[in-house]
Amino acid sequence: MTTAKLQIGPYAVNGQAVLAPMAGLTDQPFRSICRRFGAAFAVTEMTTSDTRLWQTEKSRQRLMLTSENGLKIVQIAGADAHKMQAAARAAVQLGAEVIDINMGCPAKKVCRKLAGSALLKDDGLVRRILEAVANAVAVPVTLKMRTGWDPEHRNGVRIAKLAESVGIKSIAVHGRTRACMFRGKAEYETIRAIKSVVSIPVFANGDIGEPSEAARILDQTGADGVMIGRAALGQPWIFQQISSFLETKVLPKPLSIAIRRDIILEHLDALYQLYGKDRGVRVARKHLSWYCRYLERAGEFRDFFVRVETVSEQKRLTREFFDRYDEQGRVAKQKRSREGVPDQCQEREPRKLRQENPTDPERTTRIIRYRSETDHLEASLRKR
Ligand SMILES: Cc1cc2nc3c(=O)[nH]c(=O)nc-3n(C[C@H](O)[C@H](O)[C@H](O)COP(=O)(O)O)c2cc1C
Repeated sequence: MTTAKLQIGPYAVNGQAVLAPMAGLTDQPFRSICRRFGAAFAVTEMTTSDTRLWQTEKSRQRLMLTSENGLKIVQIAGADAHKMQAAARAAVQLGAEVIDINMGCPAKKVCRKLAGSALLKDDGLVRRILEAVANAVAVPVTLKMRTGWDPEHRNGVRIAKLAESVGIKSIAVHGRTRACMFRGKAEYETIRAIKSVVSIPVFANGDIGEPSEAARILDQTGADGVMIGRAALGQPWIFQQISSFLETKVLPKPLSIAIRRDIILEHLDALYQLYGKDRGVRVARKHLSWYCRYLERAGEFRDFFVRVETVSEQKRLTREFFDRYDEQGRVAKQKRSREGVPDQCQEREPRKLRQENPTDPERTTRIIRYRSETDHLEASLRKR
């Protein structure tokens, strides 16, 4: 059994693996599933510190904390200490139990306004923001950062000490600089150096894809926990596997197909409920594609799933796909057509394609949007 040894302010954190915030991905349904599989905590997707924008549908959904099944941690991003202060107070009023400050996001949209990881360039501004937010709210304030601005300016150790001195309660460090974006490999030496100079909990983050890597990086850095981002996509059970490996040093058995099917169907339902049918169907495509990465012979299923347009068809395809597995979790033998597409999928193809007009500009935009959203992530996952 995992014992509570980590503490963020008054909150005991049970477990050493936590879910990283990922804008557009770690929404309430995904956070909830990760937590059920043992993520010790899960941070919301970042929200702008400009509270005037909190009425938009996107911010409203990001700040919805009522059905949260664990510590309610809201991440805010911004460059103005007063706005960050006001945003922190407003988030607490909405139910946030912890405020996380984003100094880790390298996205151009965020850095252009000198927010996210761009702040790491200016120690004075970092101090003003951290101090202002920590003094503004009674709940613990945490920091998510990179190792520095660029490889020549790895000021992570200085920033971490500064953060602790103004009352920040824990730090998550992505082992890349802002300039590295997602290129190259994460390095953990700076995380080790940070851990050695602060006494607040430190979470090591970046490129941790497997339980054994989590164990190795905890050893190497002395960090208190690991923060998992992309590796949780399509396998939210990774938190359970990490916890189990850390305790026993034995890799747990893969999750049964029946449990995966139930989780995926439940995830789809939660997405339709949160986003409504149209957007829910689009968001479901991303998650389903990641689930398919860890399922045998799921290529054709994924190709069909991302093309269908309705909740009922997405659910039907999913159930049919899982019906192909036998009780031992093996893919049942199937008749394959000359083109190599399983018959049950091929039967659907002419009907689906007839429904979609290939010259419809909306369809083209949809496909381009879907591809650009997933392409950079797919590329980074493929490198693993
Ligand atoms: C699509 C995407 C969105 C992200 N959004 C955020 C965010 O909102 N806030 C943040 O602090 N970091 C964000 N990150 C960075 C992750 O939290 C994490 O630091 C990074 O992905 C490295 O961890 P990993 O290798 O385990 O994925 C994002 C990363 C990705 C891939």
